[in-house]
Amino acid sequence: MRKARVLVDSDFAIGHTDPRLFGAFVEHLGRCVYGGIYEPGHPTADEKGFRTDVLALVKELGPTIIRYPGGNFVSGYNWEDGVGPVERRPARLDLAWFSTEPNTFGTNEFLDWCKAAEVEPMLAVNLGTRDGDAARNLVEYCNHRSGSAWSDLRRSHGWNEPHNVRFWCLGNEMDGPWQMQHKSAACYGAVAREAAKMMRWVDPTIELAVCGSSGRNMPTFGQWEDTVIEHTFDHVDYISLHTYLNNYKQDTASFLASADLMDSFIEEVVAIADAVAAKRRSSKRMMLSFDEWNVWYRTRRNRADRVREGWPVAPAILEEIYTMEDALAFAGACISLLNHADRVRSACLAQLVNAIAPIMTEPGGGAWRQTIFYPFAHMSRLGRGRVLRTRVESDSYETSCFDPRGKEELTFRLPNVPYLKIAAVAGDAGSLSLFMLNRDLQHEVDVTLQARGFGNLVVSEALELCHDDLQMTNTKDAPARVKPEPLQAVRVDGGLLGATLKPASWNVIHLST
Ligand code: AHR
Repeated sequence: MRKARVLVDSDFAIGHTDPRLFGAFVEHLGRCVYGGIYEPGHPTADEKGFRTDVLALVKELGPTIIRYPGGNFVSGYNWEDGVGPVERRPARLDLAWFSTEPNTFGTNEFLDWCKAAEVEPMLAVNLGTRDGDAARNLVEYCNHRSGSAWSDLRRSHGWNEPHNVRFWCLGNEMDGPWQMQHKSAACYGAVAREAAKMMRWVDPTIELAVCGSSGRNMPTFGQWEDTVIEHTFDHVDYISLHTYLNNYKQDTASFLASADLMDSFIEEVVAIADAVAAKRRSSKRMMLSFDEWNVWYRTRRNRADRVREGWPVAPAILEEIYTMEDALAFAGACISLLNHADRVRSACLAQLVNAIAPIMTEPGGGAWRQTIFYPFAHMSRLGRGRVLRTRVESDSYETSCFDPRGKEELTFRLPNVPYLKIAAVAGDAGSLSLFMLNRDLQHEVDVTLQARGFGNLVVSEALELCHDDLQMTNTKDAPARVKPEPLQAVRVDGGLLGATLKPASWNVIHLST
C-alpha cells in the first residue's frame, strides 16, 4: 500500500467554481439531437418530441449550461433554416459529418429543451461560411423584444418573449483545416472582433467566447491564441480550449496521466492571455471556456466511424462505448478543471447523448448511463463552492503521452505524475468535498488529509467507482455493471481524515460539520 498526505486550509482558496464549469454540449451530429434529446413518437416523448427519459438522466447528470448547435456543424449552419414552420424548413447537406440535416429541430426547439432540462443555453454562431451579419441577426432574433424584422419574425414563429441568451461562442475550431472556411489567426481574429462588436451593439448584456486552439497539439497553438486575443481583447470575455484524451497506445498509466496535460494547457493559455493584457497595461483578465473536453479516440481517426455513406439523417456515428478506464481518465480531467476554477469559468463535456456521450439511447427504446456519467455527476453535484489549494505528498511516476497530429506522432513527457490526483471544494455551511483519483493500477493508496479551519467534520457521503476489469462497460442489456458503490473505511477525527483508495479508482467524499 502507498501512503499520501494532503493538507488543505479553508482560508487558502484557488477560486470559486462558476456554475458554468459544469456544462455539456449538444451538436447536430449523429444521434445526439435526432434520436437523442429529440425523438417524436418515442413512448416517453412529450408534446414537443423531447424524450423525457433522456431529460431525467440529464437532470441526474447535472449539466448547467449546454453549448449548441456545434461543433464542426456550426461552421456551415444557416440558422434561418431551423426556424419557422417545420414543413417549410429545408433539408441540407451537412459537410461536417457528411449527413443530411432535416432542420426539424432548430434554435427555438433547443431553447425550449433547455427550459425543460433546466439548463442555460450557450449558442455558437457560424463564423465559417458566414460572418458577423448572420451572427448579429441571430442575436436580434433571440434577444430583441420586438419592433424589428428579426425579433418580430421570432414572435410570428410563436415565441413572443425574447430568449435572452447570455453566452455566445464566436464560431468553432477556426484553427482547424477540417473546418468549413478555416481561417488564419489574423483573418479569424478580425472576423470575430467585428462579429463581437455588432452582436454586443444589438445586446450589450451578452458574454462572448472567441475560439482558441482546437488542441494543444495544433501546430499553431500559442501563436493562434496570441494573435486572436490581440485582435479581440477589448470585445470578448473568454477564450476557448478543446481537449480529447486518448489511449491509442493502450497504455493505461499514460492514459490516466494524460489529463495532467490539460493543466499545462490551461496554464499556458492563461499566460498568453495575461501577456496580451500586460502589453496593454490592462487589468482585464480574459477567462477560459473549456468548451469541449472528453475522452475520444476509438471513433475518431477512422473515416468509417465518422461517416456513413449516402448522406443519411442522424447516422449512428461517434458512438464511443466508454470503459471503466475511460471513466478514470475522464475523472482526472474533472479534477484539472476544478483546480483551475479561478480562470476556467465555463466548460462543456462534449457531448451529451449518443455521440461521445455520457448518456446512450436506443431508438424507440431505453436510455442508460455510460461509465463517464458518474464522475461528471459527482463533480456537478458536490463541486460547487471554493476550490482549495491542496498540498499533496504522493509517490509519483514518469511517463509519456501520445497525441496524433495528422500523420505525425507527438509525444509529451510527464516526468512527475502523482499517483493521487485530488481536488478539494469547500461548500456552504462548512462542508468539504474531496475528489480523489488513485492512478496506481496495482496498489491501494492510504490518504491522510488534514483539513484546517473546518471544525469537527463528519462523513455525509463516501463513494468509489472502480471495477476489477478496467475494460468493463455499461450497455443496453447490462446498464449498471460500472456504478458507484459506498467507499468503506473512511476515518474522521476532527479535522483529520483517513481513507484507503482502491487501485485504479475514483473516490468522492463529502464531509459536513
Ligand atoms: O465534439 C466532436 C467534434 O470535435 C466537434 O464537432 C468539433 O468541434 C471537435 O473537433
